[in-house]
Amino acid sequence: MDIQKIRQDFPFFTQKNADKNGKAPLVYFDNACMTLKPKSVIDAEIDYYQNYSSCGGRSMHSLGEAVTKKADEARQQIAKFIGAKKDEIIFVKNTTEAINLVAHSFDFKPSDIIFTSDKEHNSNLIPWQIAAKKSGALHEVIYSKNDNTFDLEKFERAMSPKVKMVALGLTSNLDGVTIPAKEIIKIAHKFGAKVLLDAAQAAGHQKIDVKDLDVDFLAFSGHKMLGPTGTGVLYGKKEILAELDPFIVGGGTVDFSDYRGHHFLPVPDKFEGGLQNYAGIIGLHEAVKYLENVGWENISKAEKEINKFITDELQKVNGIKIIGPENSDLRGSIISFNFKNIDPHQITLMLDSSANIMTRSGQFCVHSWFNARGVAGAVRISFYFYNTLEEAKIFVESIKKIIQIL
Ligand code: ALA
Repeated sequence: MDIQKIRQDFPFFTQKNADKNGKAPLVYFDNACMTLKPKSVIDAEIDYYQNYSSCGGRSMHSLGEAVTKKADEARQQIAKFIGAKKDEIIFVKNTTEAINLVAHSFDFKPSDIIFTSDKEHNSNLIPWQIAAKKSGALHEVIYSKNDNTFDLEKFERAMSPKVKMVALGLTSNLDGVTIPAKEIIKIAHKFGAKVLLDAAQAAGHQKIDVKDLDVDFLAFSGHKMLGPTGTGVLYGKKEILAELDPFIVGGGTVDFSDYRGHHFLPVPDKFEGGLQNYAGIIGLHEAVKYLENVGWENISKAEKEINKFITDELQKVNGIKIIGPENSDLRGSIISFNFKNIDPHQITLMLDSSANIMTRSGQFCVHSWFNARGVAGAVRISFYFYNTLEEAKIFVESIKKIIQIL
């Protein structure tokens, strides 16, 4: 992989950010929150807005038809990207909306149990808390091992036929750990439970094959995998989606309505109420094509190299504690850490002001995990295949200098 050639595809690296106010080049290490966009994604969105900004799925004129065709091609490619069928792909605005759709529409009974893990971000926690409260079902948490990896044995022991939904983050936004999804799904299915994987931190970093996993639902966001903001996908097995009531209803979801009632279209249309984010969907198509061109092996190799380098350096510093397993290979493209009891926001602000390094600090929406430990938060660096070892070195030097001051 020619990293410099890749970086030329990202206007972010070639424009004013490359030299902000005469300071060092900006280092973008907040990819778990939002990735950068290649020019092909930006151009596809501009092309829609400039040349055929029109309604898909309804207007019969040639511009409307062009939008329908483009959105359909995007659905086809995105389905292929995760090994799904085209009509198992529902476009939503992000992972949060995808999970809300399932949690809202799934028919829970008071005797049912919903499992999440102790590391879910709010988007894969609160919808289930509310679903449990409304239905009378019980929401229970499966606790991870001491090193924050998934405890498969504990999970198997806790499973029972009462568990109807197991909702887990495939890769954690807290520490980058990926769970053994295939084994989890096999166990859950043995007890008759459905499994939803929150793939927000996974879909842009590793090959996902929904048929091989046999997962029932998969949710992910476009903006964490080079795509536009406001784009996301819910995958669901067709026969399950067919049984599920839609969450947001309106135009585009029915083939008939009168003053007394309506008749819903089949999936995916019944779930896509109102005009859609066509520019975003078309941009997401380009993002998927870009990722497929780079290839999973290259992506993983680049991330592992940076993670190992920074982990090795941070582990030498007295007082720095990395969240999750010591082995960097188990933490994908995320390193969250604390330095003694120093406020993580202070470190993030100092990295920005002194060295132009963008990191995230606080509880990254995993309030529950931090609150259970009485920890205020952490500093999180998250990188992607377009980041360089050079940038990793700038980060390590900068954090060492900051720590000397603190
Ligand atoms: N879940 C997003 C993050 O981890 C917002 O930054």
